[in-house]
Amino acid sequence: MKEYTNQNHALSKEGIIAHLATETLGREVHFFESVTSTFDEADKLSVRHGTLICAKRQTNGRGRLGRQWLSQRGGIYFSLIIRPRKEACSLQVYTAICALGVQRAIGSLVPCTIKWPNDIVSSHGKKLCGILCKAKFAGDECEYINVGIGINANNRPQSRELLYASSVSECALCEIDENALIADVLCQIERCINADDTDALMQEFAKVCLTIGSDIRVIYPDGNELRGRCTGLGSDGAIVVSTNDGTTIEVNSGEVSVRGIYGEEYV
Ligand code: BTN
Repeated sequence: MKEYTNQNHALSKEGIIAHLATETLGREVHFFESVTSTFDEADKLSVRHGTLICAKRQTNGRGRLGRQWLSQRGGIYFSLIIRPRKEACSLQVYTAICALGVQRAIGSLVPCTIKWPNDIVSSHGKKLCGILCKAKFAGDECEYINVGIGINANNRPQSRELLYASSVSECALCEIDENALIADVLCQIERCINADDTDALMQEFAKVCLTIGSDIRVIYPDGNELRGRCTGLGSDGAIVVSTNDGTTIEVNSGEVSVRGIYGEEYV
């Protein structure tokens, strides 16, 4: 595991740039002390591929399924603008590829896995990072993907969250160099999106995915529920679920809980 012992670990534009080893991602940085959400800032800018919009705090951070994303100081909150290559894949595959890049970077500091579709969780199953991708369309064409990433770096998740969330620093038992971490996330995502062999990336994803091989419960957006064992990744980054009656179903959306991270609960 890498160790970050740098004293200047607090997020800053200069700190990020000093650590960047990418070709395109993060070569344009918009840095803020506080924003409503990095998604809102992206909407105000004319963004190009690789633009990074980063804030130390968000007052209206957004998570998946319409939830709030608590964004106190010490966490890392950013949007990364990616223009998909023409021949490239769906939003769901891009999301998986970005999650893999984030898992590689956080995984170089502490052991962690991906909870499908795109949570990064510690070896105790506690959430360290959430990812939410939004596609911006111009007519039928995807103009860009806004990859929104929130990492619990040096912040301490509070009260109600404690059962489900932790931070990289809590797991590493030391302060995290936020600038080095965000720069490494960008570097790993760049490697993943530039890789030609998407199948190899999906195989790597499957290896580090906590959900695969676990008993899971899916709650669909309409409230219906499905229980079964997740047996693998299907086409286009979906998960394959085998139910007790032997049916195999591909799941693309909904809230997926994994059984047994905390006793008998599905989390
Ligand atoms: C999730 O629910 O797990 C996804 C959380 C995504 C949070 C990030 S923080 C940066 C970007 N701006 C937001 O408002 N949300 C995303």
